[in-house]
Amino acid sequence: MTTVATMIPHSRPAIEQEDLQATVEVLRSGQIAQGPWIERFERDMATFFGLQGGVAVSSGTAALELALRALKIRAGDEVIMPSYVCPAPWLATQRVGAQAQLVDIDLQTFNIDPALARRAITKRTRAIIVPHMFGLPADLTALEQLNVPIIEDCAQTLGAMEQGRPVGTVGRLTVCSFYATKLLCAGEGGMVLSNEGALLERVKSLREYDGAPTLDPSSFNLKLTDLQAALGLSQLGRFSAFHERRRFLAAAYRDVLSSKSAVCPSVPPGRTHGYYRFVIRVPLVRTDPEGLMSLISRLEQQGIHCRKPVFRPLHRYLDQSGFPNSDEADRTALSIPLYPDLTEDEVQQIQQSLAEVLS
Ligand SMILES: Cc1ncc(COP(=O)(O)O)c(C=O)c1O
Repeated sequence: MTTVATMIPHSRPAIEQEDLQATVEVLRSGQIAQGPWIERFERDMATFFGLQGGVAVSSGTAALELALRALKIRAGDEVIMPSYVCPAPWLATQRVGAQAQLVDIDLQTFNIDPALARRAITKRTRAIIVPHMFGLPADLTALEQLNVPIIEDCAQTLGAMEQGRPVGTVGRLTVCSFYATKLLCAGEGGMVLSNEGALLERVKSLREYDGAPTLDPSSFNLKLTDLQAALGLSQLGRFSAFHERRRFLAAAYRDVLSSKSAVCPSVPPGRTHGYYRFVIRVPLVRTDPEGLMSLISRLEQQGIHCRKPVFRPLHRYLDQSGFPNSDEADRTALSIPLYPDLTEDEVQQIQQSLAEVLS
């Protein structure tokens, strides 16, 4: 059994000297809560997307909740979302009292299936949350045709393109996460971005209660700190390098896997992939419920920590059925370590083990 010390973790934040300097500068400034660094982070993220503005908040989940509140979504309303995603979109929807309508995914892309989303629309539908899964943009062109306000969930995808448009620039609101393992990390954190000033103002007024003229029970303390913003900004400065490195690593994995019993991430025409995760499907494990877990433990014995990319689809928590593609992804999808600071030795070790285990 490989010891923990030699394990290649599934995720590892890329922290460098300049990140340390940025955070130390904030610590020395005597202003470590929400202040000027937050304002800069909001401005620079808005510039990154080419949007009017952003409002930094404490997490991606908080960003989703405030995006829903900004659209005045409440009890009696319905919000469409895919089943194959972490609980954040569902939790945010519950927090505003609305009803989540789960939709199956397109198995090739792991993203929400626009045709099924159309079928889920009712007269109560007020929004659709569109997570761009694992670095690949969802089919925004088809989703726009639904004429339902889109909240783009960019927690897993930044810098990727759909029909020449960067993700995050199509919906009425866009949310980001800066959790420790995300594309840009600040430990924890999130942001809501938009081209609509009125929506941004509403998010801003809901993220804190100090100085508000009235007591709004939906406001709370959801602020980010300057300390986190400094780390996020420092990471943002290296985003292009991160993006290139991720694409390089993905190509290296494809080389090894092309002749193996695995389905590599697909990239439909008109889209680019940001490779937040490198998620393969291993159809051979489909018939054995323990198959994926035993594959994960074989790779772990070789010192490589792989994971199911989504812990459990939402419909399974909620005892709903009729989501065959999410079920298939749940049975067969495997996420392989891919992050900017993987060393060449680690990449080689991963390539060798994959070649062996998936022969
Ligand atoms: C697609 C998606 N949306 C939202 C979130 C929530 O972000 P956070 O962990 O910052 O609350 C995550 C986090 O895992 C995510 O993957």
